[in-house]
Amino acid sequence: MKYIRLGVNVDHVATVREARKTYEPDPVAAAVLAELGGADGITVHLRMDRRHIKERDLKLLKEVVKTRLNLEMATTDEMLKIALTVKPHQVTLVPEREGEITTEGGLDVESNLDKVSKVIEALKREGIEVSIFVDPEPVQIKASKRAGADAIEIHTGIYAEARGEKRIGEELSRIFESANLAKNLGLKVHAGHGLNYKNIIPVLKTPGLEEVNIGHSIVARAVLVGMERAVREMKEVIDAFS
Ligand code: PXP
Repeated sequence: MKYIRLGVNVDHVATVREARKTYEPDPVAAAVLAELGGADGITVHLRMDRRHIKERDLKLLKEVVKTRLNLEMATTDEMLKIALTVKPHQVTLVPEREGEITTEGGLDVESNLDKVSKVIEALKREGIEVSIFVDPEPVQIKASKRAGADAIEIHTGIYAEARGEKRIGEELSRIFESANLAKNLGLKVHAGHGLNYKNIIPVLKTPGLEEVNIGHSIVARAVLVGMERAVREMKEVIDAFS
């Protein structure tokens, strides 16, 4: 059994708070409970439109999180400035399109190599580890290496949406092949998006997988059974099938 870290994304705790523009539920409290349930890290996406997580949350999480704080962000000057001030343990670079419901795909590193490289250089100078959220495509993984990333997070969303054994198998193969390529290039391998308590099981066999980031399915369960239990149950799945 290999140890795979579970990063719990608490964005949607803030989504519920913002439904009423009030102070509860607090994603910071959710992070504390997630850690009690066994989370190995807390992940948040500070979006340009601040629709869920706010700077206040990020700053408090940096103080409160005892595991690892992973900030998902777009490669903008504004976000870079915030990351360099807050100094999370890790930044995951993601694309962001105005009006999207959730992150729609991986970052096009190949077409934005200069910009991405500059952002990575600035973050790494401050000792922040950098991961890039990419589709399981060789061209993007090779570009991530050239850009200077420490890790890639393989976008598992297409796999999660695939239907039928054949299509699911094809998407899983793309994830495995991408992970092998990343490993051979010396990149760490993370995975995330659309993973739940069932579809994560085959993904846990991804070669070299070190971290998964999961938000919606854990928060959805937490609403009904509590955050600590929802995280503990996901940890049990990871430990049983990795
Ligand atoms: N990884 C990345 C890069 C993401 O953008 C998201 C969504 O914020 C996740 C993981 C978590 O996805 P989900 O909420 O579908 O578990």
